Order: sequence, then C-alpha cells, then structure tokens
Amino acid sequence: MNRNPIIPFVLIMALGIGLVFFLSLEGLNNAGEKAKEEGHGEMEGKEGEQASSGEFDPEAKYKESCVSCHGGNYEGGAGPALKGTKLSKDEIKETIKNGKGMMPAGLVEEGNLDAMADWIKSLK
Ligand code: HEC
Repeated sequence: MNRNPIIPFVLIMALGIGLVFFLSLEGLNNAGEKAKEEGHGEMEGKEGEQASSGEFDPEAKYKESCVSCHGGNYEGGAGPALKGTKLSKDEIKETIKNGKGMMPAGLVEEGNLDAMADWIKSLK
C-alpha cells in the first residue's frame, strides 16, 4: 500500500531516461547520416566534374539556370536575348564565368564554358 504511489513515478522516470537515451542515439544516427550525405555530396561534385569533360548538355543547363532571365526561346526577358548575340565566343564565356550586371557569376562550371558558349553561338 505504501509503495503504490511511487510506482508511477518510477515508471515515468524510466520512460524519461529511455527517451533521453533514445533521442541521443537518434542524434548520433543523424550526425552519421549527415556526414555520409556530405561525403556523398563531395563524390557527386567529382562526378559532375567528370561529366563536364564528356556529356555536358548546354540546353539542359540553360533550362535549369538561365531560362528564367533569358526566356524560353532565348528571346530575352530580365536578361538580353541570347539568340543572335553579337558577342564573341570568348566574350560569352567571360560573361557566363564572371557574371555581368544583374547576371550572377559561376552558373556554369568552368569546364563547361566552352560547350555552353558554342551552344549559345549556335542558337538561331
Ligand atoms: C538573374 C538573371 C540571369 C540569369 C539567371 C542568367 N542571366 Fe545571362 N544575363 C542577365 C543579364 C541582366 C544580362 C545583361 C548584363 C549586362 O549587359 O549588363 C545577361 C547577359 C548574358 C549574356 C551576354 C549577352 C549579350 O549579348 O550581351 C550571355 C551570353 C548570358 N547572359 C548567358 C547566360 C547563361 C548561359 C545563363 C545560364 C547559365 C545566364 N545567362 C543566366 C541575366 C541573367
């Protein structure tokens, strides 16, 4: 009779300790996963660089990074039309690499600048 009121407290305490234990394990797990993800990200970066020497797709890149400013038909919008640009290939590379005015720099990886500029020059 005397011990009965204590039992719920003991149970709750055990539950609490269990919970704290569980949460800290979960935290460790998450930290591990995060480290793994970061490692994976690095690997992906390397894969990306490798891909840049081979299968870079300027059109896909355009749709991903440029379309919002240069328009769905390269007709321009927030940025000038890319179709029929008067810039030389080198100037195009320069613009993409360093940005210009409102245009952010570094949208295209260094290794892909050539392909991107060639593609822009080929737009008709
Ligand atoms: C945030 C909007 C924005 C995005 C995104 C953007 N641009 Fe631009 N771009 C501009 C603006 C604005 C200019 C004009 C800059 C100036 O002359 O001051 C410009 C200029 C250019 C020029 C020079 C054109 C000319 O004839 O003067 C090229 C080439 C170009 N952008 C290519 C790209 C490519 C390729 C991408 C995607 C990888 C891209 N831009 C993404 C806004 C953008």
